[in-house]
Amino acid sequence: MTRIHVQTAAPYEVTVGDGASAQLAAFVAGELRRARKAVVVADSNVAPLHSAAVRSSLSSAGLDVYDFVFPAGERSKNLATYGAVLDFLAANHFDRTDFAVALGGGVTGDLTGFAAATYKRGMAFIQLPTSLLAMVDSSVGGKTGVDLSAGKNLVGAFHQPCAVFCDMAFLSTLPEVWRMDGMGEVLKYAVLGDANLFSKLEKAPLSPIGECAIAGCIGMKRDIVEKDEREGGVRKLLNLGHTFAHAIELLSGYAVSHGRAVATGLAMSSRAAAKMGVLSAADCVRIESLVSAMGYEAHVRFSVDGMADAMLSDKKVSGDAIDLVLPQEIGRCFVRRTPLSDIGKVVSDAF
Ligand code: GLY
Repeated sequence: MTRIHVQTAAPYEVTVGDGASAQLAAFVAGELRRARKAVVVADSNVAPLHSAAVRSSLSSAGLDVYDFVFPAGERSKNLATYGAVLDFLAANHFDRTDFAVALGGGVTGDLTGFAAATYKRGMAFIQLPTSLLAMVDSSVGGKTGVDLSAGKNLVGAFHQPCAVFCDMAFLSTLPEVWRMDGMGEVLKYAVLGDANLFSKLEKAPLSPIGECAIAGCIGMKRDIVEKDEREGGVRKLLNLGHTFAHAIELLSGYAVSHGRAVATGLAMSSRAAAKMGVLSAADCVRIESLVSAMGYEAHVRFSVDGMADAMLSDKKVSGDAIDLVLPQEIGRCFVRRTPLSDIGKVVSDAF
């Protein structure tokens, strides 16, 4: 079992390992003693697989346990589902000493975290990520929120979980398509700050990922989030590939999942950086080749204008510029403030 301490304003631990979720009851009995009720929020795919075990472990800690289940998919990450969670909490008389458990992938974690951040001005929540993507990225760092029709994550709050349990056993029920989704974010960490991980992926692009590599990605994210919890500066690096990715997701009507879109976004960012002369052609080719070898699209089928328009709706647009993250070499990236008037050129370079 690996424990990663996250020293944010409200500190917490991420536990990674086989059977990590078995520690939930002891954590609740120790740290959330005043709670009487817990709600387990899960989608319609995850609830039948894992809710019963989580419910029984919370019941064993003496809690009244409620289930909130919503239809699986990014389309549920909206204001209506968010409102339904809040109404559910109110109808069942939850108070601020009670807590929520986000049991699932990124959609569940973001939605539950946002409801917890805002219900009665804030209640505790625990992340129990069941997908690889949620383990390595979205369950850690306190970003919560939902999508608007204009774009992803356009409403939300920073609200750190009080604990994260990444149970490797959950990955055994993860369909291949979702394993690949998570590997897109793993590849992002490799390009962002871990040249060794990148080389390992090059040697075995389709191999399953283990506890050590997952903990390594979480540790990298922890180091960044501790320096910049609210994304005023260095945390922007974690958005590597994401501005392109959010546009791909939006233009595909969310048919392309987040992690796949991030992988394609990495190839696009690399081509843009190479055209600008900040990334060597050799590193650009290595990144594009690994994106393809891992089974992702290195190119998009949308038009340059369509991509550029979709990127302008990204929440990273501020004033008349957008912060684009670009690779400088494998394992090192930087943020380039880019005028909106240059976006068309950047996108065309990225094709
Ligand atoms: N997923 C990027 C971040 O948490 O900052």
